[in-house]
Amino acid sequence: MSTEFETIKLDIDGHLAVLTLDREEAMNALSSLVLDEIGAAVRIAESDSNCRVLLIVSHHPKAFIAGADIKEMVALDRLEMTAYSNRGHTTMSALESTRLVTVAAVNGFCLGGGFEIALSCDLIAAAPRASFAFPEVGLGLLPGFGGTQRFTRSVGMHRALSFILTAERFDAETAKDLGIVWKLFDDQDRFQSDVQAEAIRLAAQSPSAMAAIKELVRQATWLPMADGCQSEARQFGEIGGGPDAKEGMGAFLEKRAPSFKGQ
Ligand code: CAA
Repeated sequence: MSTEFETIKLDIDGHLAVLTLDREEAMNALSSLVLDEIGAAVRIAESDSNCRVLLIVSHHPKAFIAGADIKEMVALDRLEMTAYSNRGHTTMSALESTRLVTVAAVNGFCLGGGFEIALSCDLIAAAPRASFAFPEVGLGLLPGFGGTQRFTRSVGMHRALSFILTAERFDAETAKDLGIVWKLFDDQDRFQSDVQAEAIRLAAQSPSAMAAIKELVRQATWLPMADGCQSEARQFGEIGGGPDAKEGMGAFLEKRAPSFKGQ
């Protein structure tokens, strides 16, 4: 199934949804419309009960996303800037809280709001030419779609301050060393197809187990340990006593590949 928006496109095929950013003239800059359309695409993909993984890609030769839309922001007053930030937060939370496993396929510039989209995803795949930064300080701004919060939780306070205060750009190797990149792919030309193949492999896993894992791991950044462990035990019972876990463990014992139905 294919849905065309004005600035993005969504294709769902079996367990995989591919969201293609399609605002070439502005290097996929995140206007209000792009933010809203990404949120709408997440809702469409998650309402398809067969869908398990959402992959975000760009076919721009140089950019994943060059940030929030500077041409739109320059005209905004204080209240409007707050509303724009909240709009971004709504989209980032949609990516974070969906049951789908979200993967950002970063092929080039991944700046400011674009980096915040990637950080809201569960996994970041990087091409050799991926390049990350928070350039906001140079514009007299600060990250406004959760960057000060999510990047800090991912890499720690001093590392976050080093990159956000200096706007330093860093490459895919550094992002991998920082622990934010899941996989660094080595062939720029084959990047899209290689990432898609990995996403399809991910999508063969149990969707109920993956949804529980992402929820628990994200909760671990703010829940006290005892509450997190209690929540884990509850999910372990819920998922572990269900059909997917019986299939996974049964397949292991029968020495065959599992076939998960998502229950
Ligand atoms: N917003 C709006 N338009 C943008 C844009 C952005 N963030 N980034 C690029 N564009 C537009 C350019 O204005 C240009 O359009 P025109 O042809 O109409 O002038 C087009 O995309 C191509 O850009 P360049 O000619 O600059 O391309 P380049 O290859 O020379 O440079 C780049 C690429 C390094 C990414 C450069 O465009 C750049 O520095 N962009 C801005 C990056 C940035 O500062 N992002 C952070 C935004 S603030 C933010 O994100 C806040 C937040 O957290 C909410």
